[in-house]
Amino acid sequence: MKKHQNQLLLCILATIFTTHFTSAVDFLQNGFDTSDVSLYGNATIESRILTLTRDSSFSIGRALYPSRIPTKQPNTSIVLPFSTSFIFAMAPYEGFLPGHGLVFLFVPHDGIEGSSSAQNLGLLNYTNNGNPNNHILGVEFDVFRNQEFNDINDNHVGVDVNSLISVTAYEAGYWPDGESSFEDLVLNNGRNYQVWIDFADGIVNVTMAPVGMRRPTRPLLSVALNLSQVFEDEMYVGFTASTGDMIQSHKILGWSFSNTNFSLSEGLITEGLPSSELPETPIHRTKGFIAGVTAGILGFAILCSIASYLFVKRLRRILKEIDEMEDWELEYWPHRITYQEIDSATKRFAEENVIGIGGNGKVYKGVLPGGSEVAVKRISHENGEGIRAFLAEISSLGRVKHRNLVGLRGWCKKDKGSLILVYDYMENGSLDKRVFDCDDNKILSYEDRIRILKQVALGILYLHDEWESKVLHRDIKSSNVLLDKEMNARLGDFGLARMHDHDKEAGTTRVVGTVGYLAPEIVKSGRASTQTDVFSYGVLILEVICGRRPIEEGKPPLVNWVWQVLRRGELVTAVDPRLRARWEMNGEEVERVIHLGLLCAHPDPKARPTMRQVVKLFEGKNENVSGEEMDIYLLERMRNSEILSMNHRGFSTDSGSHPTFSEIRKGVFSSVTHSWSNTVVEGR
Ligand SMILES: *[C@@H]1O[C@H](CO)[C@@H](O)[C@H](O)[C@H]1NC(C)=O
Ligand SMILES: *[C@@H]1O[C@H](CO)[C@@H](O)[C@H](O)[C@H]1NC(C)=O
Ligand SMILES: *[C@@H]1O[C@H](CO)[C@@H](O)[C@H](O)[C@H]1NC(C)=O
Ligand SMILES: *[C@@H]1O[C@H](CO)[C@@H](O)[C@H](O)[C@H]1NC(C)=O
Ligand SMILES: *[C@@H]1O[C@H](CO)[C@@H](O)[C@H](O)[C@H]1NC(C)=O
Ligand SMILES: *[C@@H]1O[C@H](CO)[C@@H](O)[C@H](O)[C@H]1NC(C)=O
Repeated sequence: MKKHQNQLLLCILATIFTTHFTSAVDFLQNGFDTSDVSLYGNATIESRILTLTRDSSFSIGRALYPSRIPTKQPNTSIVLPFSTSFIFAMAPYEGFLPGHGLVFLFVPHDGIEGSSSAQNLGLLNYTNNGNPNNHILGVEFDVFRNQEFNDINDNHVGVDVNSLISVTAYEAGYWPDGESSFEDLVLNNGRNYQVWIDFADGIVNVTMAPVGMRRPTRPLLSVALNLSQVFEDEMYVGFTASTGDMIQSHKILGWSFSNTNFSLSEGLITEGLPSSELPETPIHRTKGFIAGVTAGILGFAILCSIASYLFVKRLRRILKEIDEMEDWELEYWPHRITYQEIDSATKRFAEENVIGIGGNGKVYKGVLPGGSEVAVKRISHENGEGIRAFLAEISSLGRVKHRNLVGLRGWCKKDKGSLILVYDYMENGSLDKRVFDCDDNKILSYEDRIRILKQVALGILYLHDEWESKVLHRDIKSSNVLLDKEMNARLGDFGLARMHDHDKEAGTTRVVGTVGYLAPEIVKSGRASTQTDVFSYGVLILEVICGRRPIEEGKPPLVNWVWQVLRRGELVTAVDPRLRARWEMNGEEVERVIHLGLLCAHPDPKARPTMRQVVKLFEGKNENVSGEEMDIYLLERMRNSEILSMNHRGFSTDSGSHPTFSEIRKGVFSSVTHSWSNTVVEGR
């Protein structure tokens, strides 16, 4: 009898041992190869570093261990213990608001299905968030405070079970051994951090520390979880992350996982790892804003001269280099057009063919041998260095094609240093000529103006977000909006646009743009961003609706003036009198457009919407999704109470309180559910 029992015990032990053995998973990855993990979405491996997202908006990336791992004892609901550790870095990009976080996860399927970007962290999406059938466990390292997910702050660690609303969360940091005080850690300053996540006896512990430090004894998070219903028998394990309007890098430098050896993580190499820390305080952390417009027209005037001085200087350098360079340029651009062709197309640059005079040269109309009409812009007689870079920029812009952008057909240089750019010809001239100083029969109707604003927004959105790399326009204004044969708006003049280069620090701070359209922060730092383009676009909205140029002598700048009118509660009087006299307008709608203009031209770049949001507003999609998205956007922007309580010093030229930001916002967004599409005529 006793012997039998012993045998049975042995048998049980053997079974336990074998099951344990068959379910054992151990791996230790000091750096990654493509065979170590499966990549989904935008995840990549470079120099053995796993990078989950691209440096673009709304990117999702996921990396999973290539096969499912057993997470339960076979045919039981007993969840196996596990211990994992990894080293990560999240670094903001200069000039961008950083976001969003990174998640370590267990997930029943591979791929990125069921996840969306931005605040959803590439973990879940609107519809499946909170669904018990997700079978997802995540540990999030989140740098954004989403109120809809009850986030505690914008720098926290949380444990997520089937939902982005964390079961438990705490400020990122650690409890140093032997001390009772807590050390905060900033998740996305590019520093390398090590994380340990252990599960045993129904408890999940999460601990983190700067890399190289011994693991603190006291975990950051310790939470009892019954995972038997959460885990399937086998699960994928790995990492997921996403960007939104806000972007940052998400890197994993090493990873260990085991369900047998809780010391495996000691094999992770923590020394000599590359750092992603930015050399200086990123722009987004600097507080306070320039007095901007109040500082006044004087400041602008100075800037204006600096800007034009810098531009002229740059052109000088450029054109000097043009002189020195000959052959390489052919490689750059297939769109090279010979001077002879252009010369004959414009009848030797005949004065009668001049269709415009820009800040940097005359624009001629021309007819190419094939019969197609072109606009020829001649930038004359300057010198400069950096031409290679400049032409490389323009040359890649030659490939930008969008129906709301003026096509750049080619270029040519003339020996004595004049650069010639050839654009598609726009029959109906520039937008400013149809808004200001024009005959009554040429003036644009209200509906046309709205349609054109929308089309311009689409063009900018394409540059910012939809082309292969992020392009900033840098000089959005009504005279750069051209109208084609069918009166469709096309944004032109990429002469000043410069490729946004993420790899290099933006070394020089030259201000490029036009006075009256410059965002306060560009005035301050010289740094252009998508938000500074949005600002210029906001000014464009206001000038087109109000029929007033941004800066007119003896009058307050347009943006200030509209704020003043708004404060007096007479917004409708801001509308172009010639419009009011001729067309019936929906007052509510006009107000909404002006509000949008003010919001885009808000002194705080963080308060401005993205072009995608602007386009959504114009499209007036009032179905669930976009309504929901707008709400989320609202919440995101409102997270920062500073924005709400911000004193718009820039605009306080006279006494009396400003409408608060939330009031403006209400004006714009309470009406999101109204459709604009009734009045917005679709562009062809
Ligand atoms: C990955 O990047 C490409 C190119 O930007 C984009 O088209 C694609 O949608 C991205 N995929 C995900 C899942 O983010
Ligand atoms: C688990 O159950 C399946 C079928 O239900 C059976 O085929 C398998 O042998 C069982 N495994 C163990 C270890 O008992
Ligand atoms: C969310 O993911 C589920 C799959 O898990 C999918 O059926 C659903 O359509 C997705 N919803 C959205 C809004 O993407
Ligand atoms: C989790 O942390 C608690 C408190 O420090 C500790 O008692 C427990 O053993 C830990 N559990 C695991 C699985 O690490
Ligand atoms: C976990 O939940 C399952 C079913 O919901 C239950 O059978 C099991 O006893 C629970 N385990 C613990 C440790 O509470
Ligand atoms: C557990 O992992 C550590 C560190 O990698 C290693 O030194 C140790 O030998 C392992 N223990 C077992 C039992 O495999």
